[in-house]
Amino acid sequence: MMKRAIAVSLLVGSACLCSCADQPVYRDPEAPVERRVEDLLARMTLEEKVMQVTQWTYGKNMNVNNVEQEMKAVSPMIGSLLYRSTSAAFYNQVQRKAIEESRLGIPILCGFDVIHGYRTIFPIPLGQACAWDVEKTGESCRIAARESRLSGVHWTFSPMVDVARDARWGRVSEGYGEDPYLNGVMGVAAVRGYQGDDLSKSDAMAACLKHFVGYAYSEGGRDYHYTEISPQSLWETALPPFEMGVKAGAATVMSAFNDISGIPASANRYTMTEILRDRWGFDGFVVSDWNAVEQLKAQGVAADDAEACLKALTAGLDMDMVDDVYRRSLPGLIADGTLPEEVLDEAVRRILRLKFRMGLFEHPYVEELPDSVRYLRPEARAVARELAAESMVLLKNKEAVLPVRGEVKRIALLGPMADNRVDLMGSWWGQGVADDVVTILEGLRAEFAGKAEIVSCAGCGFDGDDRSQFARARALARQSDLVVLCMGEKRNWSGENASRASLALPAIQEEFIREMARTGRPTVVLLSSGRPVDVRGFESEVDALMAIWQPGTEGGNAVAQLLSGKVNPSGRLAITFPLCAEQQPVYYNRRQAARPRSGRYQNLPHDPMYPFGYGLSYTTFSYGTLRLERTTLHRGERLAAEIEVTNDGTCDGKETVLWYVSDPVASISRPMRELRHFEKQSIPAGESRVFRFEIDPERDLSFPDATGERHLENGTFVLEVNGRRVEFELI
Ligand code: NOJ
Repeated sequence: MMKRAIAVSLLVGSACLCSCADQPVYRDPEAPVERRVEDLLARMTLEEKVMQVTQWTYGKNMNVNNVEQEMKAVSPMIGSLLYRSTSAAFYNQVQRKAIEESRLGIPILCGFDVIHGYRTIFPIPLGQACAWDVEKTGESCRIAARESRLSGVHWTFSPMVDVARDARWGRVSEGYGEDPYLNGVMGVAAVRGYQGDDLSKSDAMAACLKHFVGYAYSEGGRDYHYTEISPQSLWETALPPFEMGVKAGAATVMSAFNDISGIPASANRYTMTEILRDRWGFDGFVVSDWNAVEQLKAQGVAADDAEACLKALTAGLDMDMVDDVYRRSLPGLIADGTLPEEVLDEAVRRILRLKFRMGLFEHPYVEELPDSVRYLRPEARAVARELAAESMVLLKNKEAVLPVRGEVKRIALLGPMADNRVDLMGSWWGQGVADDVVTILEGLRAEFAGKAEIVSCAGCGFDGDDRSQFARARALARQSDLVVLCMGEKRNWSGENASRASLALPAIQEEFIREMARTGRPTVVLLSSGRPVDVRGFESEVDALMAIWQPGTEGGNAVAQLLSGKVNPSGRLAITFPLCAEQQPVYYNRRQAARPRSGRYQNLPHDPMYPFGYGLSYTTFSYGTLRLERTTLHRGERLAAEIEVTNDGTCDGKETVLWYVSDPVASISRPMRELRHFEKQSIPAGESRVFRFEIDPERDLSFPDATGERHLENGTFVLEVNGRRVEFELI
């Protein structure tokens, strides 16, 4: 089977080369992409065009044993396929059908949700954001792209750059936290990682910025719900990461499910055409989210499929994901003159452009290689381990109970996550396989071999009220020098359609933690979750607490290296941990209240549990004076700032310096402070490093109004780093 597919692919390649003299322009790899697009478009029938703007999916859990049956259903003319298969043979068969059985031989663009890895699973994006390691996020996407392309997948529906400030919303796990700039920087790293510098390379994959736009504002954190977004918030908070991603060259954008103040995102001409195309110059295509065109009926802006189709396509939504509304409605709309065919042509043009840019006409097939060559290569596992370790945030470490000291000879490893593979992968685990995952138990046993014995049992489930194993767990705890409790959320408690009203762990887990802590043994809680957790029910009773998120394939090894001290924790929160859900919204970059010290809840403290940017280390860093090269600047000039950070503890560590700017008085009130730059550096014990930020007034001091126009106003600004503040004037 494998040999045959490769042979066919070579044959097709050479057939193409031989017929150069009379081949149509669109088949000429030397011709400019735009000429190829126009040539092909001019040859297409209405049906062929309609099929190009259509994406289909077939079933789930496809495997090579039923390829034949599934294949029959795939139309050779389909524009795109969203499928769950790692079989390169399957994808080759699909492509062969398109190339050989369709009139024009247009390859199919195969997409899949590769959100934090394909087979090698990296930490969830929220965890990656807490690592503040832009380069490693890029590397993880590069690896994901390679593993995907070797399986026949060309296109990922990632990165998600929805700025998420309500931890009840399950999809906080899929984005990069509550700050627009951080989402933008990580989104750009992901786009560049997936796409590389040339989309036609065999290990590059097209990225998709999603969800355009405002999905994270779903009322009450309920997924798919209405969003009330002011034009000011749209421009200031929701749009900036998309703009950064588009300018970095993202090939595609996904329209969101939400209804933005009455105009659904998937029928929104203002966002998809006026902003995305006209203002930002985006020349890729927009794909709908799953069923989003059909859902325009539920959202009350379309009476039937035809109207939904008309509204979505004319608003700028090019490809219809799986609901088949475009395919069924377009011929009629064009035949009766309701929709000019040029509108459809433009959508087709954008889709073809990507197929040409990706070199799919020249290389539609993929070499069929064994899994050992495609997946989980040592360098992929190394990046997964390093990124996971950097993503974990040490939230409490009373009397330096961590790292584990030499006198600890037995560790009781308890809780539902202790020996768990599946949930460590988190939501959207791509083609991750549980057997690949290193559990926390395995990681600790390997790391502490010869130094400490690890005794383990779950002791308690994720939820329910079964206390039958408490006694056994208590006995193990009592016989040990240290108790490590692995608690948290199942993977499907966050992600899509996974909203939760309370951020607390189920009562049984809180009770278990308290019971184990009351054995009197030093107690560490490892918290695995896809969102911030309300930790009030146990935090004061335990000695150490670390957010490990859903760390992926190498999660257990990463945890073990942090516990042993081989790696020093360096994660910082990319999202605020509220005290509880009722305290929200409580994001750091809110605006000042009219009476800053009044108006607070009478029955809840004002400050969050752990603020944005919070995170402890095993060493201590001291910050020197925050220096500005001068205290005034003019437009067009730059202003350099620097600060020296010293590692004055006893172990090496990494420190991320966060640079904030605030504009205390402006024509539109500004957030109290806004992140404008960050940098992470390694600092060996006893050494210092200088961190720098060059302020560019147009980029860092201006702000958008409700129409998106940017304003740069003279006056006093404040630069802030780790509590140190200096003022400067723009004159
Ligand atoms: C729905 C999700 O909202 C979106 O993020 C995902 O990419 C698509 N389904 C495709 O699976």
